[in-house]
Amino acid sequence: MKILIFGAGGFIGSNLIEHLIEQGEHEITGLDVTDTKLAGIEGPNFKFIKGNISEEGLANELVAETDVVVDLIAYANPSIYVESPLEVVRLNFFENMKILEYCLHHQKRLIQYSTSEVYGKRTRDSEYHDDHSDLVMGPVQKQRWIYASSKQLLERIIYAHGMKGDLDYSIIRPFNFVGPRFDYLVPAGSKGGPRVFSHFLSAMFTGGPIYLVDGGGQHRCFTHINDASTAFSAILENGAGRNDIFNVGNPDTNTTMENLAHLMQRLYGEITGSAPNNEIIVIDGEDFYGKGYEDMDRVPPNVDKLTALGWKQTKGLEAIFAEAIQYYVDRPELAAEILS
Ligand code: NAD
Ligand code: UGA
Repeated sequence: MKILIFGAGGFIGSNLIEHLIEQGEHEITGLDVTDTKLAGIEGPNFKFIKGNISEEGLANELVAETDVVVDLIAYANPSIYVESPLEVVRLNFFENMKILEYCLHHQKRLIQYSTSEVYGKRTRDSEYHDDHSDLVMGPVQKQRWIYASSKQLLERIIYAHGMKGDLDYSIIRPFNFVGPRFDYLVPAGSKGGPRVFSHFLSAMFTGGPIYLVDGGGQHRCFTHINDASTAFSAILENGAGRNDIFNVGNPDTNTTMENLAHLMQRLYGEITGSAPNNEIIVIDGEDFYGKGYEDMDRVPPNVDKLTALGWKQTKGLEAIFAEAIQYYVDRPELAAEILS
């Protein structure tokens, strides 16, 4: 099968391509504006094209030549949602709509990466169900929700095409994937920027403070990136993965951000032999990310539909974070950039 991956050079894309190359079953083409995270990822069945999704001729032509389109293009860091909401909606909705239109025009299967964030604020459910949980957005003035709203509308349009019968699609809702090549490290005391793993690890490398946003009581479930890649394959290969929406997450890794900070400090100490001693500072969400940020407490995903495809998670919370920390410890040149 020919698989075209838009956003191939990002965290999920680079890991997915590594996984698909190892499988050796498909012909993969990846497009991205950057290939830094693809360094060393090579295979006879993989071709990378450096390009911008806004180059309509190029994107349309690539879709015409493939069997399946995987759409990973988006801004995915909460700081951007509050700093540049219009840019978020331009890329995460309007540019993604164009990809959908190319798929409709050429009648190609679309695998769309959405987000766990579409569930929004915590509801009365004890777990998020892909088919019947409510999607609850915060006020318009809290610009954080522009990301989830863009993704939600895209999901609704894709679903409507599926109902109409003119689109073959699958929607993936990722729950906090973590692993090698995740985001980027930041200098001591930085605010905003990357996602939580990168902030906490950067603090350990630099000795800077660990910020617990809004007290650190918020829950998240984290997913090993390799489990995320096998979930993609289960959805791709299985007939039951078509025209449906899937939570991709690990319900057994539910933890608070405060617990995560302590867990990562312990693991970092065990891996490096040097116990970190960061000051832990509680900070208001708007002071950390900017005006318009709002946090949420998430409940675990229900993954019954995904497990019915034969998928199961293999990595628990400690293994997920130990492996991701080890990746950076083994590459001191990455930390050197923030220490210089
Ligand atoms: P990422 O930022 O690492 O990857 C996105 C990639 O898209 C980047 O490599 C970027 O260069 C590329 N890109 C952006 N604009 C482009 C353009 N105009 N033309 C070509 N390429 C462009 O993010 P990620 O973590 O890999 O997330 C991928 C997708 O999964 C996103 O849609 C994100 O919203 C979704 N998602 C990810 C997670 C997670 O846990 N990582 C969770 C929920 C949702
Ligand atoms: C992110 C992004 O919105 C998307 O990539 C994606 O939709 C979603 O993850 C997901 O993976 O499903 P979020 O879950 O808030 O959203 O991810 P982080 O930015 O990693 O934040 C997680 C929690 O840690 C939040 O409560 C945040 O406030 C907190 N945090 C973050 C800290 O306490 N300290 C920090 O230094 C950074």
